[in-house]
Amino acid sequence: MTYYLTTPIYYVNGKPHIGHAYTTCAADILVRHRRQRGDATFFLTGVDEHATKVFRVAEEQGLPVQEYVDRIAEVWRELPRRLNAQPDFFIRTSDDGHKRFVRDFLQRIYDNGDVYEDVYIGLYCVGCEEFKSEDELVDGKCAIHGTVPERIEEKNYFFRLSAYQERLLELYDARPDFVLPQFRFNEARAFIAGGLQDFSISRAGQPWGIPLPWDESQVAYVWADALINYLSALTYARPGEDLRATFWPEVRHLMAKDILRFHCVYWPAMLLAAGYDVPKQIFVHGYLLLDDKKVSKSLGNVVDPLELIDVYGADAIRYWCARAVSFGQDGSASIDGIHERYERELGNDLGNLLSRTTAMVARYRDGRIPERSGRNDELAAAVDEMRSAVERQLDVFDITGAADSIWQLVRWLNRYVTDRAPWEVAKDEARARELDAILYDLADGLRVVSIALASYLPETAPRILEALGQPVDLSWVNVDYGRLVAADAVVGAAPLFPRVDAPTPAGA
Ligand code: MSP
Repeated sequence: MTYYLTTPIYYVNGKPHIGHAYTTCAADILVRHRRQRGDATFFLTGVDEHATKVFRVAEEQGLPVQEYVDRIAEVWRELPRRLNAQPDFFIRTSDDGHKRFVRDFLQRIYDNGDVYEDVYIGLYCVGCEEFKSEDELVDGKCAIHGTVPERIEEKNYFFRLSAYQERLLELYDARPDFVLPQFRFNEARAFIAGGLQDFSISRAGQPWGIPLPWDESQVAYVWADALINYLSALTYARPGEDLRATFWPEVRHLMAKDILRFHCVYWPAMLLAAGYDVPKQIFVHGYLLLDDKKVSKSLGNVVDPLELIDVYGADAIRYWCARAVSFGQDGSASIDGIHERYERELGNDLGNLLSRTTAMVARYRDGRIPERSGRNDELAAAVDEMRSAVERQLDVFDITGAADSIWQLVRWLNRYVTDRAPWEVAKDEARARELDAILYDLADGLRVVSIALASYLPETAPRILEALGQPVDLSWVNVDYGRLVAADAVVGAAPLFPRVDAPTPAGA
């Protein structure tokens, strides 16, 4: 199987915040899981540089714009690195390979007759990098940015989006899972059904951007440039290779609802116009409302995801991204929530389970993992159920549901310890076999859990396996009861998630 997943390419007019980290973590969880299942994967992320707002920030800072983007692109490159995400390529829209491809792509649309010239008179919100109609404004201001949009009158090239309405509706009707979740599919389809207006794909009188091949006096509109990254990257990410034939048919786009229209309407139409297949699937997640006030009061302004990683570690932040809200829905989240999950779920449910299990193996069995003597049918069934649930859920981007399925097994194991009370069993020599079976099941259950969690907790999973004396093989087939191998020299494991000082309460 082949799996290609993209994040949006982020604007570099500022630094990354936790909202960007959210999408990148989610994407990395999905891709790592596919790698465990043996799929050939390609994971793309990167930055969007040719925005007017990027140009303006460079001007404000008194820097030549190329120098500004070269500097800040390095800050953004740190985001996946520090989150322990493993993109196969980090694209910058100022890459030569991208610029070349965008020109070819737009030329194809032009040659196919879907571009015409007209005078644009209208309103442009630089914050949104989007043209606005009067009825989208609130008191004459952009509803999102609260700023008065700029009045623009210039000669532009327009893309004949209106000509694609029927084909887009046919596409949506033929592929009911083209956009997920379902309510986003409905939203996109309703927008198309409501009638489509042609949109401007160029800007005149702006020096920053990719010049149009047929009229070098204009540059590509930032979205007409940015969307094409998903395709351009495949042509130059691996020098000498063209990955389009392998990966394009399997591309899935991930982003939040703020840019749904661009991805679910404009982009498929542009692809059709240029003679490419539309994406395989688009998943639109919700917007995380972050409790900024609480953030700054508690940890001293650490909405910066990189600083949060310093406190909790990348695994905890990744795990929290999956858990914060049900993936796909909107929700509010707080830094206190990260702390809570860290202590209760990672520290107690998982970390203590490993500490107790290894401590008992060390104490009662001299560090030797007992041989398997029988089969715990209940545990084996719980493992099977978890495995198929996680596969099913991650196939539809449900990183929250899959984390929950895994956690049900963690809870099962914790209940098992309490119910079977191995410390009591250990007091009676005659019950030695029973104790062996309990310790085996706990260790095997933890082994299974760690492999299942490896896409969420890539640092922690190998540590669990090592603590149990197991080979670090994260292949998904090992999510199966009874594959624990003999091991000795197991010692009580150090805490997986050491205590972190709680955020200081407001006013303290
Ligand atoms: N440059 C465009 C995307 C071009 S893609 C061809 C852009 N950039 S952005 O920097 O504004 O990033 C928007 C994306 O960042 C969202 O779609 C989402 O993936 C992520 N998020 C930013 N803030 C977020 C939240 N508060 N909550 C959830 N996602 C967030 O748009």
